[in-house]
Amino acid sequence: MDFDVFDPGFRADPYPTYARFRNDDPVHRGRPPTPGEHTADWWYLFRYADVADVLRDARFGRAIAPALDRPPPPVPPEEREPFWDMYAHWTLALEPPEHTRQRALLNRAFTARVVEALRPRIAARAAALLDELAPRGRFDVVADYAFPLTLSVIMELIGIPQRDQERVKAWSLTIAAVLDYKRTWDVMAEGNRMTNEFTACLAAIVAERRARPRDDLITRLLSVGSDEEQLGEEELISLCVMLLFAGHETTVNLISVGACLLLEHSEQRALFMARPDLTDAAIDEVLRLHSPIQATTRIAYTDVEINDRPIRRGESVTLLLGSANRDPATFPNPDRFDITRRPNRHLAFGRGIHYCLGAPLAVAQGGIALRLLHERCHIWQPAAAPVWSETFGFRGLQTFHIEEKGSKY
Ligand code: HEM
Repeated sequence: MDFDVFDPGFRADPYPTYARFRNDDPVHRGRPPTPGEHTADWWYLFRYADVADVLRDARFGRAIAPALDRPPPPVPPEEREPFWDMYAHWTLALEPPEHTRQRALLNRAFTARVVEALRPRIAARAAALLDELAPRGRFDVVADYAFPLTLSVIMELIGIPQRDQERVKAWSLTIAAVLDYKRTWDVMAEGNRMTNEFTACLAAIVAERRARPRDDLITRLLSVGSDEEQLGEEELISLCVMLLFAGHETTVNLISVGACLLLEHSEQRALFMARPDLTDAAIDEVLRLHSPIQATTRIAYTDVEINDRPIRRGESVTLLLGSANRDPATFPNPDRFDITRRPNRHLAFGRGIHYCLGAPLAVAQGGIALRLLHERCHIWQPAAAPVWSETFGFRGLQTFHIEEKGSKY
């Protein structure tokens, strides 16, 4: 069996392929998901139990160095890429003890109280967007609603002025393209250009906050930790880029796919409207059924056997979160959209030490955005079939046009 992540049929609808591999070849050895990748030894895991185990297993990690006998040779200056230099600071790229230190600092700056304080502002922003969109009678949930809402919320959280929205929007799209498994040299060059511009913009904001502190994440990150623990300037700026990206693209997909699923399942929509207590459960079910991050990769730090298949030290293992979340061994009737599903221990936010830092914000934002959309537009319908993105690692909608009929206002 060949697992081809570039096959257009697979990209259009990955779930039948996932089901076949979960049954027939759940620990699959295949071709790398990134063209030109240096190694041909690549593994794919499709079952929930295997994916969940590897996410928590310290014998697998994100960094290449622990899988090598000696440190990798330094990259010559002329070959250094600003994007990857910046990415090297991201929490997701680190291993303990650096990961533990950085994650603890982030946890102290990005608390549950911070998310609670954002709730009214998310609601106000969503309501303002709907005030503008509803009278139009038709709009694109992705470009007109989910995208601007999540962008302004994450910019406000970090402390990037709203006047920079257009630039930040373009940068966010570039990061998504670089981090998708199918990047090209042109995309990479754009990513390096973007990194220089974005980091310069953030450096100016950091300088301003040092002089005049405000109630935002940059200000809090400047002050958390003892002198030895504190984030360096380059690290702090890299983390802001990470948060911008991590908190934006994924949440756009959650909101637009959630709107689409509720619209396609009228009985689930009626339940969602009648039972505000099911809001968080509905968000979990959207995330399970169409996980915005479909795949994440780990490197084996030692030889490991999974289901009698030998994975060698240094080999890469791609974990199909989107497949794990539809595994019938864990989720009865896995293809069914059921907002009352209990338990729903999906892996859309990962598991283990890299468990999503922004999960509470994503759930809060998704719930507020979907509830307001449905309250404002009590009768509405798709104006055209939703268009799914053609990417592999990140899954979501490119466009989803809806028409409103009989708005309450
Ligand atoms: C629906 C929305 C979201 C989804 C589906 C999502 C999914 C994920 C997943 C799967 C991981 C783990 C990846 C791995 O282990 O390889 C992760 C990590 C992370 N996420 Fe999210 N995320 C979302 C929203 C957010 C938001 C809103 C933020 C921040 C504002 C955020 C920040 C992070 C960070 C910083 C990490 C790395 C944590 C670490 O390495 O310790 N995410 N996310």
